[in-house]
Amino acid sequence: MWTPDDIPDLTGSTAVVTGAGGGIGLPTAARLARHGARVVMTVRDLARGEAAAETVRSQAPGARVELRRLDLADLGSVRAFAAAFDGSLDILVNNAGVGMIPRQTTADGFEMQFGTNHLGHFALTGLLLPHLLARPGARVVTVSSDAHSLGRIDFDDLGLERHYGRFTAYGRSKLANLMFTLELQRRAGGRLLSVAAHPGATATGIMKLGVLTRPVNALVRLAIQSPDKGAVPSLYAATSPEVTGGLFVGPGPRPLTPSPKALDESVAGRLWETSEELTGVRFKAITQHS
Ligand SMILES: NC(=O)c1ccc[n+]([C@@H]2O[C@H](COP(=O)([O-])OP(=O)(O)OC[C@H]3O[C@@H](n4cnc5c(N)ncnc54)[C@H](OP(=O)(O)O)[C@@H]3O)[C@@H](O)[C@H]2O)c1
Repeated sequence: MWTPDDIPDLTGSTAVVTGAGGGIGLPTAARLARHGARVVMTVRDLARGEAAAETVRSQAPGARVELRRLDLADLGSVRAFAAAFDGSLDILVNNAGVGMIPRQTTADGFEMQFGTNHLGHFALTGLLLPHLLARPGARVVTVSSDAHSLGRIDFDDLGLERHYGRFTAYGRSKLANLMFTLELQRRAGGRLLSVAAHPGATATGIMKLGVLTRPVNALVRLAIQSPDKGAVPSLYAATSPEVTGGLFVGPGPRPLTPSPKALDESVAGRLWETSEELTGVRFKAITQHS
């Protein structure tokens, strides 16, 4: 069975990991750095992120570890991050996420889970595309979830103003992550690898479910895997030579079958075009459909 010890030497490559200040993102960044990649860790709060960056530096002495501010719930922040990004990019891990929260909106007025998890990463990937295409075989890993099967894309109520449920809104954002992964692969063809990951139930911030009491939460967290284990599907997706574009990697790591709705190419195409309109970010370099 593949383990992170099987990650090849990544010297000379650059990786960006979103939401790298904790949870699954932190061991993802640390492992990539330990295997030689220059790692750009993105966080919302630089002061809090500094401790995470120090953890990575201590686990990967000599590695190039950089900390940058990125708030995916604010397209201005996404644009500022991308504008300041320099050089080519080998691995983008779209890891950050919010989950199962009461209805809120992003700085741009989008429903928060869809806006952060999907639209923020959609815009980020589009803006970083020239950096990715500069590296043959570059990879975009987008962290989805098996919870995608709970979601449904309703183009008439993308803001979920009529029917908001914190779990179904999360499922919808993770379905969008998976559809984005597959559509990106279809549009990019051989120019990059687009891969999705499902970490499996992992004891992180997102699993502190407000709907559960504190003792029940503590029990749930004891029963599930560590963030190190939760990072394995992303790390496999980001580095294994066995990976093919459009793969959905689950715990193990092993391939998962997306739910049938994730495979609906007509919804995926419409979601893509809608996401371009909402974010104002167009993937010009790989556009086949216009
Ligand atoms: N844990 C699980 O069981 C599980 C299962 C399936 C899928 N996932 C997915 O795994 C990914 C990582 O989540 P996690 O489990 O590690 O949860 P986590 O501990 O809550 O970490 C989430 C990360 O996302 C960042 N983030 C949240 N909102 C952001 C925003 N607006 N802009 C930028 N960064 C933001 C957080 O930053 P701050 O530190 O600033 O809050 C944090 O670093 C998510 O995509 C999640 O959907 C997790």
